[in-house]
Amino acid sequence: MSNAQSRRISTLDLAAKKAAGQKWAMLTCYEQMTATIFDQAEIPVLLVGDSAGNNFLAYENTIPVTVDELIPLARAVVNATSKAMVVVDFPFGSYENSAEQALVTGVRFFKEAKVQAVKLEGGKKIVPQVEKLIQAGIPVMGHLGLTPQSVHTLGGFKVQGRGEDGERIKSDAKALAAAGVFALVLEAVPAALAKEISSELKIPIIGIGAGKDCDAQVLVWTDLMGITENPPKLAKAYRNLRKEITDAAKEFASDVATGTFPTTEQSFN
Ligand code: KIV
Repeated sequence: MSNAQSRRISTLDLAAKKAAGQKWAMLTCYEQMTATIFDQAEIPVLLVGDSAGNNFLAYENTIPVTVDELIPLARAVVNATSKAMVVVDFPFGSYENSAEQALVTGVRFFKEAKVQAVKLEGGKKIVPQVEKLIQAGIPVMGHLGLTPQSVHTLGGFKVQGRGEDGERIKSDAKALAAAGVFALVLEAVPAALAKEISSELKIPIIGIGAGKDCDAQVLVWTDLMGITENPPKLAKAYRNLRKEITDAAKEFASDVATGTFPTTEQSFN
């Protein structure tokens, strides 16, 4: 998109990028400051992920995260942006029960946070939920492979879809595409499998630990900036903000202790 873009990115824009072979980036985002910065940096899609659980809310993983906790975060990201499409994760327990439960969750996110799309983890099992949401006018992004809400079923944060298991992921991907998802996240799957799914499906495939041949890539923003203490192998730190922030905090504390801050510049007559 050019600097002249004056409206939010839509699902049609993302479909057009796939058709034109243009790759794009998605970042997670949980609050106002990074939302403004990423929007100004023209990141087209911001995900208010349930990774807020272990990056913002100090939980061990994403499982405890609730709709009530994500709504204010998503609302802040929407309010702080004007160009990015804002997608919110359906947290664990907010959609598995039925299509009706999923619709109640989707309506809450649409009305109370005003997001433009939602993301759900799961394959064929959640097709009724996906269809119900889309019928109601709520665009859905899928998420297959390593689905963190199922960490205990998967036996840990492990690569999915190796060998014959790849067929399961491929058929889940096709089922979700047929149900109408506008994009699909593939997390921690072999690069060759992600490449095959990306070339077979018309919808954009967003990789995270899924190799270079996906249509888009997503990272958790704290991993990207080098804030996360023990980042996963699939992440790349583009900066070392953990060190920058630590050094700045220590410098401030030391300046206060020595009386070097504030100076007359920060004082009033
Ligand atoms: O919650 C999240 O951050 C995610 C991304 C890693 C895709 O689901």
